[in-house]
Amino acid sequence: MLIDGHGRRVNYLRVSVTERCNFRCQYCMPEKPFSWVPKENLLTFEELFKFIKIAIDEGVNKIRLTGGEPLLREDLDLFIKMIHDYKPDIDLALTTNGYLLPATAGRLKEAGLKRLNISLDSLKPDVAAKIAQKDVLEQVLKGIDKALEVGLKVKINMVPLSGINDDEILDVLHYCKGRDIKVRFIEYMENRHANIALRGMHGKEILEKIKQVHTIKALGREGASPSFNYTIEDGYEFGLIDPHKHDFCENCNRIRLTAEGNLIPCLYFDEAMSIAEAVKSGNIDEAAKILAEVLKNKPKENRWSESQDNEDISARAFYETGG
Ligand code: 5AD
Ligand code: SF4
Repeated sequence: MLIDGHGRRVNYLRVSVTERCNFRCQYCMPEKPFSWVPKENLLTFEELFKFIKIAIDEGVNKIRLTGGEPLLREDLDLFIKMIHDYKPDIDLALTTNGYLLPATAGRLKEAGLKRLNISLDSLKPDVAAKIAQKDVLEQVLKGIDKALEVGLKVKINMVPLSGINDDEILDVLHYCKGRDIKVRFIEYMENRHANIALRGMHGKEILEKIKQVHTIKALGREGASPSFNYTIEDGYEFGLIDPHKHDFCENCNRIRLTAEGNLIPCLYFDEAMSIAEAVKSGNIDEAAKILAEVLKNKPKENRWSESQDNEDISARAFYETGG
């Protein structure tokens, strides 16, 4: 079993398979200039899988593939199948912007994927295009429909931004309720790669918007999930991901692996250790040692609560870690 330096059980590994993306969401990426990690620095699926097997053998029972946009990585379904065949009952999920789902959802499901989180920040084509810096909405909505059609479980992520999509919280909630899928509103996490003019809505403000129309009841956090759950009067459940709150990190159960092989203990901080050499040379003991070291040094909590009016905001890029 994996236990971190603060006594938290770590059973959740997020694997970013590429930092590349076909969107340029303002809260995540600069439009330009831009330099990608050279392709030859990416670990192969076989190399990533060597580490994943160690993690699974140590008790990881939940794996999420992220990006960038993970569906840009060729043959992702084969990678999913490798993980699924090693441990069929693993909770295997993917976070995507949805754009490539119309063409890929069927294959992902067949390969053994169970769940998808899809970003949907607006239901207005022009606002969606402003946020993603590309005309994306029609294709994303098709992608959501396709995922549901092939039988994947879907959750929606929305990042409410003041003055941009803050008038669409109820619309997105109702869109999701109509399809019986859960929406999670995510507080914008300030970071140095985002558009500096952005202002995220605070969790309280998000709830206020919903309370204008619905009676809401707090359910609490479920297990180690970062989402604080609520229901409305008819029982429909939605979530709020509020990393600015002080108790947010108390039950953190996750670590992250990037496509280059950096093992990251916390989304907020820049610290990482590389397992690339260890897996490339097949030195499994060394990779396991690095994992233990990263767990020992996992920070107690993030610093987003302080970063709203602070220059010292997170340097970590979301497109590298997959959020
Ligand atoms: N703040 C909050 N959420 C973010 N995401 C990416 N960048 C940020 C940010 N700065 C989330 C988006 C997307 C997922 C990949 O990560 O909601 O759905
Ligand atoms: Fe791409 Fe996701 Fe970042 Fe948007 S949030 S630019 S879809 S990686």
